[in-house]
Amino acid sequence: MLIAGNWKMFKGPAEARSFFESFEQPDGVDVIVCPPFASLAAAVESGITTYAQNVHWEPTGAYTGEISPPMLRELGVHGALVGHSERRQLFGERDEAVARRARAALEAGLGVIACVGETIEQRESGDTELVLTIQVEAIAFAAGTYENLVLAYEPVWAIGTGRTATPEQAREAHAFIKGLLDRPVLYGGSVKPENAAELLGQPGIDGALVGGASLEPDSFAAICRAAAEL
Ligand code: PGA
Repeated sequence: MLIAGNWKMFKGPAEARSFFESFEQPDGVDVIVCPPFASLAAAVESGITTYAQNVHWEPTGAYTGEISPPMLRELGVHGALVGHSERRQLFGERDEAVARRARAALEAGLGVIACVGETIEQRESGDTELVLTIQVEAIAFAAGTYENLVLAYEPVWAIGTGRTATPEQAREAHAFIKGLLDRPVLYGGSVKPENAAELLGQPGIDGALVGGASLEPDSFAAICRAAAEL
């Protein structure tokens, strides 16, 4: 089981350090944190496995606001998220860019958590499988035979809304995704200590990508413990 915490644009270095002072990582589960760029060094220093929230595909160049795989490697960062729905929805990130980011990160020896998921409009119009197919196939093409790739199924309507996919919805989507690309698949979208055990207990759910509930050491540790107990 893998539990990854996506801090989004929360916690500068001082807050990150105080998180790591009180966070106790249980045995029996792999744990990753994804802090904002400014707090990557603090996370790496703590000894926890650290992923960036995004990564560019070129090693250097005129790409204002971006950061490259070798720069992350130099910092001691272990991997990166790519294709988070907030990148796709708020910053116009497209499948082609997601695929290039994933490919470059993997080539540089970084791990990748690649996020996919449908919006509520796409689900209600019956397009969930179409959307997942397009997103997963772009990532699969880019990933080739590189192994250090995990997918995260994050239905956009469940992110930060308090509304989780039902265990059946999550199970169905995970099975569908694994049919397209046989890799571990994390579930993301309003995972909390109260619902973690039920979601993580579903077949085909290999862990969780946690946003809001990863910001408090106690709630993140509780989710990690739920995973360790399965
Ligand atoms: P949430 O976010 O747990 O706050 O819903 C999940 C994510 O965006 O990765």
